[in-house]
Amino acid sequence: MVKFTRPTGTQDILPEEQPYWDHVLACVAAVARDYGFARIDIPIFETTEVFARGVGAGTDIVDKEMYSFKDKGGNDITLRPEFTAGVMRAYIENGMHVLPKPIKLYSTGPVFRYERPQAGRYRQLYQFNAEIIGEQNPLADLEIMLIAWDIYAKLEFANLSFQLNTTGCPVCRPGYIEHLRAHYRTHYSQICDDCKLRLDKNPLRVLDCKREQCQPVIAAAPKISDYVCDDCATHFADLRTYLDDLGKPYTINHRLVRGLDYYTKTVFEVWAEGIGAQSAVCGGGRYDGLIELLGGAPTPGVGFAAGIERAVLLLKAQNIPVPLPPSPPVFIAYLGDAARRHAVRLLVHLHQAGFGAQIAMSGSLKSQLRQADKRGARLALLIGEDEIAQGGVTLRDMASGEQESVPLGNLVDAIQQRLV
Ligand code: HAM
Repeated sequence: MVKFTRPTGTQDILPEEQPYWDHVLACVAAVARDYGFARIDIPIFETTEVFARGVGAGTDIVDKEMYSFKDKGGNDITLRPEFTAGVMRAYIENGMHVLPKPIKLYSTGPVFRYERPQAGRYRQLYQFNAEIIGEQNPLADLEIMLIAWDIYAKLEFANLSFQLNTTGCPVCRPGYIEHLRAHYRTHYSQICDDCKLRLDKNPLRVLDCKREQCQPVIAAAPKISDYVCDDCATHFADLRTYLDDLGKPYTINHRLVRGLDYYTKTVFEVWAEGIGAQSAVCGGGRYDGLIELLGGAPTPGVGFAAGIERAVLLLKAQNIPVPLPPSPPVFIAYLGDAARRHAVRLLVHLHQAGFGAQIAMSGSLKSQLRQADKRGARLALLIGEDEIAQGGVTLRDMASGEQESVPLGNLVDAIQQRLV
């Protein structure tokens, strides 16, 4: 018989993992609401062109990592490798430009990238994504970064570092790229084959090459912040002033270029230790040309996405406890067939009264009480012949072992009193 396994790079999130996920997702949604973000859900798949144009042909995501296929109608479809391009498509398609700006939207859900799996890197991953549309002021960049800060503060993470850079704009970036290429041409024999290809296809990416041989060339490379136009330089300086005023620590990282083509001006990431080689827990930046590129009116935007798996890994790596979901507090145990029928009626009655309750399915009274204990019940209701004859139940406090008889008519009040 064939033994089925989950596809490489995917995870089964088992019940014992769920409290971590619940905690992270509750935290990101609470922060998003605190900052006035509204939720938007978009399809898990889009027309391939949305990503080819939005994220950019020539990026690793588009060239190597997309799950693309033709559907039965012959349409080119891609499972979303990120949210931003799809959210902008939805913004344009739904005429959201008429809404008061800035428009603040957040989403959560799975995205798909055919990457080489390793610790903290999956092919199906889950993102929290936030976008501010229609605001040019660096205050929007700041707010996006503050959301990331607040999420990780709320999750009580320690030792995070904010990496910040500017990537210029269509006015100044081409000039910088020429300087970068010129520098690389003089060191051509020293660089890896991938960087030789990147120089043609996606030159900024040479700056985040991890190969040993490329490191001296990267270290001596011209810095984009020295080449940006006045508009980009002012934007970057204003953002840094906001951050400095607030005392938020960040590192200017001239090598931070990010793997998506739509970025203009600000880019940032948050890095953490303890999640394998994949140190970015979130990343984002400004994309002032994206909406126009996808067919909308020129509209600025800035946003970020955080990987939920990496946040979960970090909670575990930093031994941060998460709240456990409460177990149903009441467990119903019984002895004999007649008592079982009473027990079932009682179960329905308690659920209608708004209590979490479970019923034993089988076993001796002793083993039923063991089940009650394992399932974290605070109260057990015991029903046997005597209880049926007296029209009541025996109510047992699972912690102290104390028992008392309670007439059925008083049961709801008695449970309520003991659960406060
Ligand atoms: P990204 O940097 O490609 O940005 O992904 C954001 C976050 O998703 C990463 O920092 C990481 O936590 C998580 N992530 C990415 N790939 C994987 C993977 N293979 N396995 C596990 N986690 C992963 C974006 O997606 C942009 N759309 C962010 C953005 C929004 N920029 C502007 N608005």
